[in-house]
Amino acid sequence: MLSQRFMMDVYLAPMVGLTHLALRKVVAQYVPEGQSMLWPTEMLSSWRIPKEVLGSSFETLKGPEETHICPQILGNEEEPIRISVQKLEDWGATAIDINMGCPVTKALRHNYGVALMGDLDYAARVVEVTVKSTKLPVSVKLRAGLQNDLEYLLRFVKALENAGAAWITLHPRVAGLKRRGRADWSQIQKVKAHLSIPVIGNGDVESVGDYLRMKSETGCDGVMIGRALAAKPWLVEQIARSEDLPRDPYWEGAEYGRNLMLLIQYLEEADLSYESLQKKLSFYVRMTHMWLDFGHQLNSISTKSKNLEELREGVFKFFESPQRMAVNSALKG
Ligand SMILES: Cc1cc2nc3c(=O)[nH]c(=O)nc-3n(C[C@H](O)[C@H](O)[C@H](O)COP(=O)(O)O)c2cc1C
Repeated sequence: MLSQRFMMDVYLAPMVGLTHLALRKVVAQYVPEGQSMLWPTEMLSSWRIPKEVLGSSFETLKGPEETHICPQILGNEEEPIRISVQKLEDWGATAIDINMGCPVTKALRHNYGVALMGDLDYAARVVEVTVKSTKLPVSVKLRAGLQNDLEYLLRFVKALENAGAAWITLHPRVAGLKRRGRADWSQIQKVKAHLSIPVIGNGDVESVGDYLRMKSETGCDGVMIGRALAAKPWLVEQIARSEDLPRDPYWEGAEYGRNLMLLIQYLEEADLSYESLQKKLSFYVRMTHMWLDFGHQLNSISTKSKNLEELREGVFKFFESPQRMAVNSALKG
């Protein structure tokens, strides 16, 4: 699927609380006509999906116009995984991604997410079980590991390939770093050289220049972008046009404002309560603030607004005066 001609080689990263229907719709505006992207969901629990009607929770909402969705599942047990992937296949998934990167304490304690990277045979078994349960391609998104050990990482990804993974996405930071420090792109290059399946690189890409550099330095088959694509979704269009110049920071500020209004609209259309909508919006601003000179002002508008009308009005008024976005963030700090 990665090699389909109309598929772009830039990917939005799965992000809890962010890569929901509303953000996907905002990013999708920038996909040029005739091209297509593979879309993530937020991480979905394979223990919850079997009990859920897919589409009834916000996390599993999918627009009628949405295609090529690759939900990400979290899990380590055969039966829940089997039921989950079958349900996701019926729901309209195009591929399934397995999370082997989540570094939260709960994941480490219960042997899912990045904890799976501590046991190569078990992780390969999780892939095998998933592959056996669906006709869809199955990918894995992983980190550098629980600790820095390149030789182990190479053995680990080879085991995933042998277990039937269709491609892997590497976010080269060890678990303990969470999102601190810098992603070590040299590991993407080494993993790519070691495998026959496609490798998508991820970590700290925030411009077309970074995208091009990651591709040329690592030879990766695609680039996944998380936080920067949430903040600057027009990067998709710039990448499609090979437009390697930053846009005017004031244009970006205005575009960010327009997208924020759209986010509010899409969250409202998803029938969220005002409290949930406000929380999601504040989270979006918090996760993108590193490109904003005005994050705290937006946050105060969001937290002070008592209802949707006030929120919409406050955001709209704020962007009536010119606002600028930062070209580079502290991502690579
Ligand atoms: C708020 C947030 C939630 C995230 N949730 C997930 C997740 O559910 N699954 C996952 O594989 N990675 C998750 N990540 C990690 C991202 O997918 C990505 O690997 C990371 O942000 C590095 O990419 P970036 O520098 O382009 O943001 C999350 C990141 C953020 C910022």
